[in-house]
Amino acid sequence: METSVPGLPQGLRGDYARARPDFTLTQDMATYTEADHATWRTLYERQAALLPRHAAAAFREGLARLPFFAEGVPDLARVSRVLRAATGWSLVAVPGLIPDDAFFAHLAARRFPVTHWIRRPEELDYIVEPDIFHDAFGHVPLLAQPDFADFLEAYGRLGEQAARIGALKPLARLYWHMVEFGLIRESGGLRAYGAGILSSRTETVYATESEKPRRLRFALWRVLRSDYFIDDLQPTYFVISDYAELFAAMERLPELLPLARDAAPIPPGAAAEGDIPHRLA
Ligand SMILES: [Fe+2]
Repeated sequence: METSVPGLPQGLRGDYARARPDFTLTQDMATYTEADHATWRTLYERQAALLPRHAAAAFREGLARLPFFAEGVPDLARVSRVLRAATGWSLVAVPGLIPDDAFFAHLAARRFPVTHWIRRPEELDYIVEPDIFHDAFGHVPLLAQPDFADFLEAYGRLGEQAARIGALKPLARLYWHMVEFGLIRESGGLRAYGAGILSSRTETVYATESEKPRRLRFALWRVLRSDYFIDDLQPTYFVISDYAELFAAMERLPELLPLARDAAPIPPGAAAEGDIPHRLA
């Protein structure tokens, strides 16, 4: 169904007419077909096989709390019970992308919006809009990590302020690089924790092992100015040492947002002064 919602691109796949004013709707498990569950399981099995070598420990630990993810499209209420016990987060079902203000309000209340529909079988490797596999498999495991959970709430809380001063772009860059495409240095080597990486078979291997992309130590001021590609493998990744580093960075965000808004953006993949490269071992 095509629809038009203020603040969103035209022609999104979800049924926005069904959504409440906060863009949530009720997930109806009865609407998932056997083909939908099979699509989930195919994606799940492909990614699960890559996790021991490529995924962050916190992601694997979070996923281990959700053994029913192996069975098919998950019941979001059941996932919420697990998350609430771990970090106080819960999930809400939404028709797809939602406007910034609604998105930030949910994050600030420790609610993560999850698209309720799943991609078609011919879209296994690439889908334009995030679906339930990306949102639930990719994002949920890290929400069980306490420092990351605190970071994402703090991020949501700053959304309103960023919108007011016209600094949504640098804020979106922080989400893109550190929530969707973040890497972490662990004792066993470089691992991925970002949802955009770990919900994509190609990028899971590329981000952690390829010699091609630029990998830099996380630096907030650098990330806030760094533009990105939305439809290709990332040419630059940022590497953290632990999740507390992300939460700590939020303290400087109010001061840096207006400066980043006015600074020249760094093109995708470009080098910048002060970059500290992370070298593959
Ligand atoms: Fe995402």
